[in-house]
Amino acid sequence: MSDETKESSLGIAPWGLIGGTGLESLDGFEAKGKTVLETPFGETSGPVIRGTLGDVSIAFLSRHGADHHLAPHEINYRANVWALSQSCERVIAVAAVGGIASNLAPGDVVIVDQIIDYTWGRAHTFSGSTGGLAGDALGSVTHVDFTEPYDANVRGALLSAARRAKVAVHDGGVYGATQGPRLESAAEIDRLDRDGCTVVGMTGMPEAGLARELALPYASCAVVVNPAAGRGEDEITLEMIKGHLAHGMTKVYQILRHLQ
Ligand code: HPA
Repeated sequence: MSDETKESSLGIAPWGLIGGTGLESLDGFEAKGKTVLETPFGETSGPVIRGTLGDVSIAFLSRHGADHHLAPHEINYRANVWALSQSCERVIAVAAVGGIASNLAPGDVVIVDQIIDYTWGRAHTFSGSTGGLAGDALGSVTHVDFTEPYDANVRGALLSAARRAKVAVHDGGVYGATQGPRLESAAEIDRLDRDGCTVVGMTGMPEAGLARELALPYASCAVVVNPAAGRGEDEITLEMIKGHLAHGMTKVYQILRHLQ
């Protein structure tokens, strides 16, 4: 779709933000308009909300829906990514994750740089005969380069914003994307660890791959909300997750406000 068509539908924001658990709404975000985009792939998780966070102009979409009604495997990733591609120039994904690597503590923020996909059964591509757009959204079967799954410029912008905000973050990490919605067994986390994963979450794929298929610059800001299974002393509870999430999200807000 041409940029002109994009602009007439909603207006292009410099930044897109897809918020995960704990970021169903954005505190301090001044909404200027809301659009439910019709997509060739069905319904998005909710409206794309245009507005500003401080001086930063953002198109915001809540990944699980405003009331968090969608489990990770129920999210229509294609609709969401397509809608964002019509609404913004680049996307920051915020994701709650479990920490696998021993140097990660709950509340830490990781600007991940690699991903391994363990999900299954999700509509994961715009390519091929089931792509959804008159047979094929990409025009032909396309094998996009995914060597570096996250956009270097968006990662760089996040790291610079974190420096300006004086928020310490981890530069680099490997996101293991699991199916959920249950958490992992300790043996599953050991396997992810052997594979090189440093954090684990349930929504990183197919989102990142779909963004790459549409050439939509995309990077992820992962917030550690619990030690992954077998990596901490305590049972992983919702209360534990909520507490660490609140702490981590205050850092994410600071980073977002310092985007340039
Ligand atoms: N595993 C998978 N996804 C998660 C976790 C976890 O431990 N914590 C938050 N999202």
